[in-house]
Amino acid sequence: MTFDVLSLFPDAFSGFLGSSIIARAISKEMVQVRLTDFRSFSTNKHHCVDDYPYGGFPGMVIQAQPVYDALITLLEDSPAPVIYFTPQGRKLNQKVLQSYAGYDRVILLCGHYKEIDQRIRDLCVSDELSLGDYVLSGGELAAMAFMDGVSRLIPGVLGDIESATSDSFSTPKLGFPCYSRPESFMGLSAPEVLLSGNHKAIARWAEEEAEALTKARRPDLLTD
Ligand code: ADE
Repeated sequence: MTFDVLSLFPDAFSGFLGSSIIARAISKEMVQVRLTDFRSFSTNKHHCVDDYPYGGFPGMVIQAQPVYDALITLLEDSPAPVIYFTPQGRKLNQKVLQSYAGYDRVILLCGHYKEIDQRIRDLCVSDELSLGDYVLSGGELAAMAFMDGVSRLIPGVLGDIESATSDSFSTPKLGFPCYSRPESFMGLSAPEVLLSGNHKAIARWAEEEAEALTKARRPDLLTD
């Protein structure tokens, strides 16, 4: 899978792309990430990409021209969905990630400052996604969350041990609490059932713990 990322801050991705599962997926050639700084597409003499919004509102707007030219260049290769990250988008969740896991290529557009010119959204963007109900300085962190979440759904990216740890949200409930050695730590013992070797009882315990945690913290997941 290829992620084409359009950002004014491509350096923001370097630590992320060099670490952990995404780095391994890249080195195994299961994932490819291509970073494009759309400032380089600006026809403006000073490569300026933002301007004051019409209407006299505060803040700045990313102009349509550099983003449009960068997108058209990328889309000349082959068609691909264009996702714009914005707090105005639909909320990113596991279902949304799953819906993108089968694509060969997606284009991820990261804004900065205020928003990008609406005409880019009308002309080129096929989906708008938000990380949550808060405002970040740009879409870069959301693009990283998206790439991480989608990559680990691609068959072969996770090793057996990693994928066996049934994640919260791959099932409709939150995950259950996890324990490892030592049995007792700072006076707190691991639940006895986990050391019992009784697989049926352990599975029941995990189910009940997940249910209780979900009820307490995310009752919306049980009713959706
Ligand atoms: N850009 C700024 N805030 C954002 C958010 N909450 N989600 C996605 N992209 C964003």
